[in-house]
Amino acid sequence: MKRLQDKKVVITGGSGGIGAATAKMMIREGAQVLITDLDEKALKEMADEIDSPDLHWIAADVSDEEQVKKYADKAKELFGHVDVFLNNAGIEGEVKPLDEYPMDVFRKIVDVNIYGVYYGLRYIFPLMKEHGGSIIITSSLAGVRGHANMLPYVTSKHANSGMMRSAALEGAPYKIRVNSINPSPVDNRMMRSLEEGFSPGESEATKEKFEQIIPLGRYATNDEVASLAVFLASDESQFITGSTHMIDGGMTAS
Ligand SMILES: NC(=O)c1ccc[n+]([C@@H]2O[C@H](COP(=O)([O-])OP(=O)(O)OC[C@H]3O[C@@H](n4cnc5c(N)ncnc54)[C@H](O)[C@@H]3O)[C@@H](O)[C@H]2O)c1
Repeated sequence: MKRLQDKKVVITGGSGGIGAATAKMMIREGAQVLITDLDEKALKEMADEIDSPDLHWIAADVSDEEQVKKYADKAKELFGHVDVFLNNAGIEGEVKPLDEYPMDVFRKIVDVNIYGVYYGLRYIFPLMKEHGGSIIITSSLAGVRGHANMLPYVTSKHANSGMMRSAALEGAPYKIRVNSINPSPVDNRMMRSLEEGFSPGESEATKEKFEQIIPLGRYATNDEVASLAVFLASDESQFITGSTHMIDGGMTAS
């Protein structure tokens, strides 16, 4: 029996680095997966690449409550209920000192990383109440630590921890588990954007500097983060809820 046999899964940010890697791994483990993301073209390309009857997609902006209702309705129509929800879509914003941070970018981060995650909880939670399930919120190392020049992103990822803990307590009577995964830098588009933000034109050198302060000496891969999500989605983690799961190469140990 596969680890996620017949589980019905919804993943936001499903065509991004972590979301796509997790969707692929979950399908290999026997799940049926609905991915949602902003860009219809990227979703379609991913569906063509994976070419599996177990992958479904719908375009939606997680910061728009009506569009979140739309992806939740699609999950209900396809599956009847949801067993696993990877509440993962997020944006990094810009790298700027706190007294120069553009307010429109701060508001956008709040809309996507805080309201987007909340809307997901609000509309997927009812689809889990009858059977129980596992909700995984992608927070960050920035959800437990500060970082200079990234105050809005750090704030939003700390907010994810508050939502995770509160939802875990509300979910427990329904056997809905809620946890967060908290990666340090992952080798994908988001880190390229942040490296560029910290030192324009010197992405590679910035990456090397970051890697020097990670005890294991490198970034995580999308697949390593996906493996943690698969564990938290599976029944192997059935007594784990309300927890922050660092996947950070030892960074929080220092
Ligand atoms: N990459 C890292 O180093 C890192 C580290 C820690 C945490 N995270 C978190 O992991 C999550 C996934 O990011 P990733 O690393 O895969 O980066 P990514 O940029 O590849 O993926 C993020 C996805 O979210 C989607 N998205 C953004 N705004 C959206 C919106 N309004 N509605 C719907 N979808 C939207 C993007 O289109 C993208 O596909 C994010 O929450 C991010 O903050 C990333």
